[in-house]
Amino acid sequence: MAKVGQNSGLDRVLVLEVARITEAAAVAAAKLRGRGDEKAADGAAVDAMRRELSKVHIKGRVVIGEGEMDESPMLYIGEEVGIGDGPEVDIAVDPLEGTTICAKAMPNALAVLAIAERGGLLNAPDMYMDKIAVGPGYPEGIIDLDAPPGDVLGRLAKHKGVPVGGITACILDRPRHAELIAAVRKAGAGVQLIPDGDIAGVIWTTDPQETGIDIYFGMGGAPEGVLAAAALRCIGGQMEGRLHPLKKEEEERAATMGITDIRRKFTMEEMASGDVIFSATGVTDGSLLQGVHFRGTFAETETLVLRSRTGTVRRIKTTFRAVGRAAL
Ligand code: FBP
Repeated sequence: MAKVGQNSGLDRVLVLEVARITEAAAVAAAKLRGRGDEKAADGAAVDAMRRELSKVHIKGRVVIGEGEMDESPMLYIGEEVGIGDGPEVDIAVDPLEGTTICAKAMPNALAVLAIAERGGLLNAPDMYMDKIAVGPGYPEGIIDLDAPPGDVLGRLAKHKGVPVGGITACILDRPRHAELIAAVRKAGAGVQLIPDGDIAGVIWTTDPQETGIDIYFGMGGAPEGVLAAAALRCIGGQMEGRLHPLKKEEEERAATMGITDIRRKFTMEEMASGDVIFSATGVTDGSLLQGVHFRGTFAETETLVLRSRTGTVRRIKTTFRAVGRAAL
C-alpha cells in the first residue's frame, strides 16, 4: 500500500473504503427516517460509521467529529480510528448531516466523511462559521466574506453575463439570516432557502445549470464548513469561512485547537489541503443524491465520491442484500 508523504497522495483504494463507510451510516440512519427521533438516527449512523472505519487499513485520527471526548463516546475529536497499520490520515465525519430532516423524512439528509493526508483538514471546533462559496469557473477572489452581498452578486452576474436577477443564492432558513436575505433580494438576486444541510448547499453551487444555485451564503456549523470545503476542493470552486463564536468559551476552545486569531478568514485550501477524498451517501431522497431505498430485504444507496488529486467525481449505486427493514 502506498504511503502518504511520498508525493503519492492517499491510496486510491481508499476511494472505495470511504464509500463503504458513508453507505453503512446512511443505511443505518435510513432505518430510522421519519421517526421524529434525531438522536436515535444520529446514534445509528455514528455506530455504523465507526464500525466500518475500524475495518480500514489506516492510522486515522478524527479531527472533525461528534464533539469532545467527554461529550461523545464515539468519533470524538482526537479519537484514533482504523486498524492502525496504514497511512496516517485525518478524518472529518458527519455521520448524519441533517438530523432533523432525517427525523422528519424530508429531503437531503446525508452521511458524510472526508479523509485527508495528516494535517490536511482544519481542526475546527463545534461552533458556528460564516461561509461564502461558489463553484468552479470564476476568477480567483470573486467572493469575499467581508464584502456587501450585493457587490459579490454583482461580480458574479457580470462574470456570468446575466443581470443580478439571473443569480440565485442558497441560504439556511434561520431568523439570524433575515438581514442577509433582505440584502440579497434587494440586490435583485433570488434566494433558495433550505431548512438544514448546508454541505449540500455548498456542493450545489458547483453545478448551477442543474441546481439553479450560484452561491452559498450564511452562518452554519464549522464542522460542516470544513466538510463542504473538502468537497469543493475536489470539484473546484472557492470558499471562505470564519469562525463565529457565540460565547467566550467557544473562543477559548478554538484557541486550544490552534486557532488563536478568531477573526481569521480561512480559504477553501486552508480548510482542506493536500490529497482529500470526500464521500456522501444519501439518507433521504434529495436533489444531490437519492436516499436509501429499501426493497424487501435489499437496500440500495447512492454515493458521491470525490478526490482532489484527480478531480474525479464518482457516483456509486450499491445494492446491499439482506439488510433491508424486513431483515431487522
Ligand atoms: P445537524 O445534522 O447537526 O442537525 O446539522 C444540520 C445543519 O443544518 C447543518 O447543515 C448546518 O451547518 C447547521 O445545522 C446549522 O446550524 P443551526 O441549525 O444551529 O442553524
